[in-house]
Amino acid sequence: MYYTKVIKYDKMQKVLAKGMKFSMINFKSVIAEQIAKATNLNKDELESYIEIPKDVSMGDYAFPCFRLAKELKKAPPIIANEIKDKLEIDENFIEKVEIVGGYINFYINSISVVQDVLERFDIQKENFGKPNETINKTVVIDYSAPNIAKPFHIGHLRSTVIGGALYNIYKFLGYNTIGINHLGDYGTQFGKLIEGYKRWGNEYKVEENPIDELTKIYIRINELCKEDESVLEECRNNFKKLEDGDKYCVEIWTRFRELSLKEFQKVYDILGSKFDSWNGEAFYSDKMGEIVEILEKTGRLVESEGARIIDLGENIAPCIIGKTNGSTTYATRDLAAIMYRARTYDFDKALYVTSYEQNLHFKQVFEVAKLLGLDTKYTDGLEHVPFGMVRLKEGKMSTREGNIIKLEDLLNEAISRALKIIEEKNPDLENKEDVAKKVGIGAVIFNDLSNNRIKDEVFDWDVMLNFQGETGPYVQYIYVRTKSVIEKAGYVPELKDIDLTNLNDNDSFTISKLMYEFESILKEATLKNEPSILSRYLIDLSQAYSSFYNNNKIIGEDKKVQDARLYLTYAVGTVLKIGANLLGIQMPDRM
Ligand code: ARG
Repeated sequence: MYYTKVIKYDKMQKVLAKGMKFSMINFKSVIAEQIAKATNLNKDELESYIEIPKDVSMGDYAFPCFRLAKELKKAPPIIANEIKDKLEIDENFIEKVEIVGGYINFYINSISVVQDVLERFDIQKENFGKPNETINKTVVIDYSAPNIAKPFHIGHLRSTVIGGALYNIYKFLGYNTIGINHLGDYGTQFGKLIEGYKRWGNEYKVEENPIDELTKIYIRINELCKEDESVLEECRNNFKKLEDGDKYCVEIWTRFRELSLKEFQKVYDILGSKFDSWNGEAFYSDKMGEIVEILEKTGRLVESEGARIIDLGENIAPCIIGKTNGSTTYATRDLAAIMYRARTYDFDKALYVTSYEQNLHFKQVFEVAKLLGLDTKYTDGLEHVPFGMVRLKEGKMSTREGNIIKLEDLLNEAISRALKIIEEKNPDLENKEDVAKKVGIGAVIFNDLSNNRIKDEVFDWDVMLNFQGETGPYVQYIYVRTKSVIEKAGYVPELKDIDLTNLNDNDSFTISKLMYEFESILKEATLKNEPSILSRYLIDLSQAYSSFYNNNKIIGEDKKVQDARLYLTYAVGTVLKIGANLLGIQMPDRM
């Protein structure tokens, strides 16, 4: 193995950075290229084998030679030695190469990473993490979708928060992104509500307090339906009448919808949620005929106990397309929505963010969608993004039982709890209410996104509002610290005047490596549709900065050191803010 040194490294790097716009050194690729040269094996495949050791003392990247043992018919340590001898390493990038067992461990030159990352940061600033390449892809994200005349419950909060985060990340990466609120504004429950309203409407103050009052009516009519089958029949017929355009039914339905939307908007305002389309289920009322016709032509639509179904074989329950009385179903409306979205948006991906309770529904719908004669581009692009349930300490909520916690109240409680903590910690803070809103809502959002989405989530105030935990407020707190450091210094130095070799401590290196990962973290989050990858990252970056802050004096050192550390502080603050905003969290300047 021999090392080469490039002369005037700094200058060349700068030119390179400009010439290549702002792509950073891809260390994995550099390493893979060298191993490919040494072995005559495929570079991309080799690159996919490269690991990032958990223990930093084992290097920054590691190549596991046992992967090649079969192909090269040699023991891994022998392969490791043979490869190492042939490596041509640029020591400006890679400082040291070591063999441990069957692994080749690569130690990156820390200053080159610091330099590379901060130069790219300097070019991109608040766009840091945006890819160089343009992505010509459209992704449709179906999320939130509460049901009219029912409370906006905590499951819809999860959908709103997860879907919203995905929306922001896709958009930031350059996708053409469309957010759809597929409102539950259709279906048999409206038949029930209409029936209840017809019977007892004047006993309730629906205008004043629509969702609460409609919920009461809904509970009462459900009780009656349980006792009296004929009432249930009446309800089903009401929905059929609504579908057929009956004047009375349509009128009441329209009012329920408007009143509910006004209520939902309060929650969206608190969260800052926005949608590109509000086409709910009812929007598809005149678009299902075509679906049924296509399905009829396939010969797969069959009668079963009076209903019309598609048999999906032994492993999946049949998909119901039409009910006994001829009215349509949730599934049929989703099929019409797929057709409409394919034609209107020409999507590459269509995501559906709901709880895992709808796993079967989407399995059925995606299966039947294959019969619609759509290009496989569309059917391949359909993806259910399921998430786990939220458990409150008080237990599960259900509309029918009437055990309801209003989401608006819940969010307001988060704000008032945050306010109380802030009043204790920092009584003189200005704009306490505004800060409390950012912290309280940030805590709820981060809590929702901090674990793998499929896991059930426990809603615990003390955990999510802990300023020292792995929480939203912690990330905000570290961000605020970066702001106050810069404020105390009174300036942000310019990168061109900074000697980055002053950032030669371990914490600076850890931070730079994390920053280096940011773009791929965002990409991974979209690849897996998993915002928790980004929240985890923000915790890591916050902790790394906290350690940097504790181990290094930033202000008051020699001016050159101060400038370098200030710049790193500024970069970390910017990345924390970009990341948190992508999750839907607002950053306070002080707290
Ligand atoms: N309104 C439904 C619910 O509350 C969620 C709708 C999800 N989107 C869809 N296209 N089916 O469960």
